[in-house]
Amino acid sequence: MPELFGDLNPPPRLLMGPGPVGVDPRVLRAMSMPMLGQFDPAFTAYMNETMELLRQLYRTKNKWSFLVDGTARAGIEAILVSLITPGDKVLVPNFGRFGFLLAEIAQRCRADVVTLDREWGTVFTPDEIETAIKKHKPRVLALVHGDTSTTMAQPLKDIGDICRRHDVLLYVDATATLGGMDVAVDEWKLDAVSAGLQKCLSGPPGSSPITINERVVDVVKARKHIEAGIRPDDFVEGNAPIIQSNYFDLGMLMDYWGESRLNHHTEATSMLYAAREAVRLVLAEGLDNCFARHRLASEAITSGLTAMGLQLFGDQKNKMANVTGVVIPANIDGETVRNMMLHDFGIEIGTSFGPLRGKIWRIGTMGFVCRKENVLTCLSALETCLRQCGVRTQAGVGPDAVLAVYRAAETSARKAAE
Ligand SMILES: Cc1ncc(COP(=O)(O)O)c(C=O)c1O
Repeated sequence: MPELFGDLNPPPRLLMGPGPVGVDPRVLRAMSMPMLGQFDPAFTAYMNETMELLRQLYRTKNKWSFLVDGTARAGIEAILVSLITPGDKVLVPNFGRFGFLLAEIAQRCRADVVTLDREWGTVFTPDEIETAIKKHKPRVLALVHGDTSTTMAQPLKDIGDICRRHDVLLYVDATATLGGMDVAVDEWKLDAVSAGLQKCLSGPPGSSPITINERVVDVVKARKHIEAGIRPDDFVEGNAPIIQSNYFDLGMLMDYWGESRLNHHTEATSMLYAAREAVRLVLAEGLDNCFARHRLASEAITSGLTAMGLQLFGDQKNKMANVTGVVIPANIDGETVRNMMLHDFGIEIGTSFGPLRGKIWRIGTMGFVCRKENVLTCLSALETCLRQCGVRTQAGVGPDAVLAVYRAAETSARKAAE
């Protein structure tokens, strides 16, 4: 008799790494709703509602704001494979692990990829990006917004104008920031943006919200192709080269999400329910309130860590609001502390990659997990773990500093309401 294993019974964890984070129970509840057929009018209405909610989240009028099924890289891959024709020049300003990912995906699309590299913990100035555009004349600029590997956020405000001046298409990976920091798609002239659910949107990994504007739609339409089995008789093939992937062909995805409702994949029903609920909850809280909640947690955790005598990692002016990098003190084994956090306190904090491996911890305060009690719990636990490992910290200083930031914010909110 083959082994059947026990009940699925994951240990309770407080997920304060760089994602995934704890899912809002209301999102889990939405995921348990019954299946519907993918062309049932009740289901297509949910698809349309999801598109409308995504427009509000992305602060865009883009008609084509929808979900790509798969984790965040599914959205990245769908956009890049649909934009890039083999041989196109793609410029990737690279300031962390996920810049490497964009470059790698673009290479697999057979682009001629040029990277512009910066030391991890820093970001680019608009001038640096413009100079590189003038030099390399790319067709596409692919840029990460918040790179969780370094905890830095690249300011985007001026990049769209620069790209328009030089007729470059701008793609942004907002996986780790959407819902926690502003991603003002229309105002900042971002041509295509993708994200994931598992960070500031408090959903599970497995659905990638994307938005594309008319500049991108034109490229996709010129490459238009429809599978033979579902192709209408009067269909005219686009005259530009076909998109290399079927699953990630944005043209066919648009036919499925749009009025023609042409069959493509079977939409991941429960993930659509999750995305619709996750985005709805962020909008119900209010985008500005949500960003302010993440900023406040960042302020609180950075004061707590500093009070504990720890050094924050990277250029603090460009720190992501939802992830904090902390330098692991000398003579301390970062993995011993992470293991104690997990096994003694049930709290997950992150390690790092590449040049930062073993050098920093990354603490996430995002989405559903981004709240006062979790920041306090995490720093109280970290303080104990550090003390057990021989770091001398004054008991209580970290949580006290966290509490002071929250108390000050609560007082000013009360005064403002009076
Ligand atoms: C900035 C960024 N881009 C892309 C990804 C990849 O996302 P996924 O693992 O959901 O494919 C991540 C995941 O952490 C990320 O932080």
